[in-house]
This record gives sequence, C-alpha cells and structure tokens, in this order.
Amino acid sequence: MDKQNRKAIIAGNWKMNMTPTEAGHLIDALVPAVQGANCEVVICVPFTDLCVAVAKCSGTNIHVGAENVHFEKSGAFTGEISADMLTDLGVEYVVIGHSERRQYFAETDETVNKRALAALNGGLKPIICVGESLAQREQGVTEELVRMQVKIALNGVTAEQLKNVVIAYEPIWAIGTGKTATADQAQEVCAAIRKVVGELYGEDAAKALTVQYGGSMNAKNAEELLGKPDVDGGLIGGASLKADQFAIIVDAASKG
Ligand code: PGA
Repeated sequence: MDKQNRKAIIAGNWKMNMTPTEAGHLIDALVPAVQGANCEVVICVPFTDLCVAVAKCSGTNIHVGAENVHFEKSGAFTGEISADMLTDLGVEYVVIGHSERRQYFAETDETVNKRALAALNGGLKPIICVGESLAQREQGVTEELVRMQVKIALNGVTAEQLKNVVIAYEPIWAIGTGKTATADQAQEVCAAIRKVVGELYGEDAAKALTVQYGGSMNAKNAEELLGKPDVDGGLIGGASLKADQFAIIVDAASKG
C-alpha cells in the first residue's frame, strides 16, 4: 500500500482563535468550499467552539477535532477536559503534543504519550505532533529527536490502535513564521517517521499510517509539499482561518 491508498487528511488547527459566533460564520463558509474534497477534512477548534462545530458539521464531510485532551478519565482536575467529554459531544480527532503546548504548557513526551493513550482508549483519533527546534536542526539531531518523540508518544499503543493514529511533523521553526520547510525537508522527516513506525509495528502498519506536515503550509506551497511521497496531509494553522485558503489546500490534497 502506498500513498494513493493512505488517507490524506487536511486538518485545520485554529489554536486560540474564533469565538463560537465567529466559528459559526467560518464553518458556514467552509462547508460549501470543501464539500467536493477527495481527502479527509478536519477542523480542530477551541473547546468552546466544539458544540457549534459539531452541530454545523453534522451531515457534511467535515470532521471535528479538539486541540488537547487530559489523560485522566475524570476527577479533581480543574479546568481540564476528558476524552469521554469530547466523544460524547461528537468529537472525532484531537491534536496532541503541539509544540505550543510543549513550549508554553510544560507538555513532555511522557504526557504526550499519556494523552495519546487516553484519547485512543476513549475512542478519539489523536493527531500527535512532533518536530525539532531550529537549534536542534542546526545541531543535526532532527531525525534522532523525532524518532525519540514518536517512540515515546506511541509507547503502549497497540497495532490495532495505531490505525487511528495520525502523526504530524511540525518543525517548530516553521510554525507561524512563514518559513516553510522545503518539500524535501518535509519528505525526509515524514519518511523517517514512517520508518520508525515500521520498526515498531511492521512494514504494513507503517505504509498505512497518515503522516502530515505542518508549519506555514498555505495555498501557495501546499501542492508541492503534498506531492511528496511520504507527506499525506497537512496540519494547518493560520491558513485554516480563511475558508478560501483552506479550501485550496484541501483541493491540493485531493489531487494527491
Ligand atoms: P501555521 O501553524 O500553519 O500557522 O504555521 C501550524 C500549526 O501550528 O499546526
């Protein structure tokens, strides 16, 4: 199984943007713009936008995701949201381990792993983010670092559960900076991710895994990035907040 047989997924990561009212307007514009997509379309939105997103996306081809999930099932964790709360709402995906959470909210590879397991056990599909800083790239440790992040994130994930996992390669230096990784850099690391998953779960599982690129992907560069053999989709920040831009990226992924 190769690229054509894998699920291409374009996921918007809205970050801390859009009130519920604004979210409703954006989704109203998105629904017609992506209805002909030949790839999976996901919007990962703030917790407060999930209700409106699930309601407005119901009966459309847009799937809804959250931007984080807590690893405990329930209890005294003020301010946190569990996997069960999300699935009960109709949420399907969840972003885990985004570099902004690692950088500003003390997320570690270990908590990423705990969240991934909680998400999978709760019936959510985790989009697990990995990626290096500029200093790490310059030190030549990108591949080792990303391999380690992937291995720790997947610790305890069964082969059956892996079928619901998406991994997003997001070089930190490319996020929100307008500095996209070149298509070759994206390909190189996405292939390395597939390789380590192959070592852990076997060749067939690796070939079936959706690996996204994220980091300043936009309407202009999407086609080249998504044309690479191991880049199966994108995790889109800034460009996911504009329906027309997001739709162009979805179109690029639909072409394969
Ligand atoms: P960006 O964000 O597209 O704005 O660079 C990507 C991300 O953080 O997922």
